[in-house]
Amino acid sequence: MTSSGKKLIYLDNASTTFPKPKEVIEYMTDFYSNYGVSPDRVSSEIATKAAEVVDASRRKLAELFGGSAPERLVFGYNITDSLNLLINSVLEQGDHVICTTLEHNAVLRPLYFLNDHRGVELDIVPFDEYGYIDPEDVKSKIKENTKLVLIIHGSNVVGTIQPIKEVGAICRREGVLFSTDTAQTAGLVPIDMPSMNIDVVCFTGHKSLMGPTGIGGMYIREQLKITPSRSGGTGILSELREQPEEFPYCLEFGTPNLLGIAGLLAAQEWISSQGGISEIHKREMKLANRLHDGLSEIKNVKLYCADLSHDHLPVLAFNVEGMNATDAGNKLDLEYNIANRTGLHCAPLAHKALGTDKSGGTVRLSIGPFNTEEDIDSAIKAVGEIAEAARDSAL
Ligand SMILES: Cc1ncc(COP(=O)(O)O)c(C=O)c1O
Repeated sequence: MTSSGKKLIYLDNASTTFPKPKEVIEYMTDFYSNYGVSPDRVSSEIATKAAEVVDASRRKLAELFGGSAPERLVFGYNITDSLNLLINSVLEQGDHVICTTLEHNAVLRPLYFLNDHRGVELDIVPFDEYGYIDPEDVKSKIKENTKLVLIIHGSNVVGTIQPIKEVGAICRREGVLFSTDTAQTAGLVPIDMPSMNIDVVCFTGHKSLMGPTGIGGMYIREQLKITPSRSGGTGILSELREQPEEFPYCLEFGTPNLLGIAGLLAAQEWISSQGGISEIHKREMKLANRLHDGLSEIKNVKLYCADLSHDHLPVLAFNVEGMNATDAGNKLDLEYNIANRTGLHCAPLAHKALGTDKSGGTVRLSIGPFNTEEDIDSAIKAVGEIAEAARDSAL
């Protein structure tokens, strides 16, 4: 319920999942009340307990990505933070990097910066009319100085899940570092680094991982060494001039987001209690199919890359023909109390490719674990009414 007294229908889960499970919030409140100190194994009982929770959270997340060395799971503050750390640590003048037109500004802007100011070459691979990149396009761009291939796993604009396993196999064969942006997929789609040949997984905690905002990080595969572009306090080996080499200290700087790390631990337990990520994905896709079918029946609604029989997230992008996306989204929000997201979704190249960059982008509805069939039916009805009014006014 919101201050207007209307029930809020929250369909903006691709921005951040809401609400968070009450079990997560209760755990965080209790944990921070009792153990909210700087984690440390030696100084006091509560600091030891805090360190144990950090370790447990690390272990759970490492396991989620198929990693067997928990210390290689390093925490940061969100995926924008970990992508920046990775990009700036790995790429040097004269290197070449490949990404896609589906990429979020969390990838594009750091790469543009290095391209504009640090002599890093950049190639951007397109997606097809269904919303998928072709791994062969990535292969054809790899050259002698290619250092990194960095590809979004699930599109936050059209919801398509990219063939990262195939891209990973190509990169491994070619000896190129491969990383993926799992902002939309971690916690919803299986990610197994060894079988997918992923070198570095970057993640954020507040979407389908069901944790709070302000926590994220990455997992760096065994044997791989990354020389960090940052440095700072680690709580150990303070006498060293340089950042310690061992994990996780080589890629963690300053006091961690302890509360976020604890929240992520509770969130992983909550996900397990719901049957695990595949079960949650299945439930959400059932609702996504219902939404897709309802929207498809509305005459003047255009869906983008929405063949849900292929690898897809419960994320749908659409426009009401003849209407700016912002106007349609505002109506959904203000008149029907349906939280949605309009505009370019921080992915300007994706919208350019779709041809939606000139008309305010698209309206995006994205489903989370707390949505119901009633939510979906209300959204279909609301979009139907908005579309009908648009048709009438065009007459
Ligand atoms: C695909 C993708 N990458 C990166 C981000 C950035 O996430 P964060 O704001 O948690 O850093 C988002 C968030 O919308 C996203 O959808």
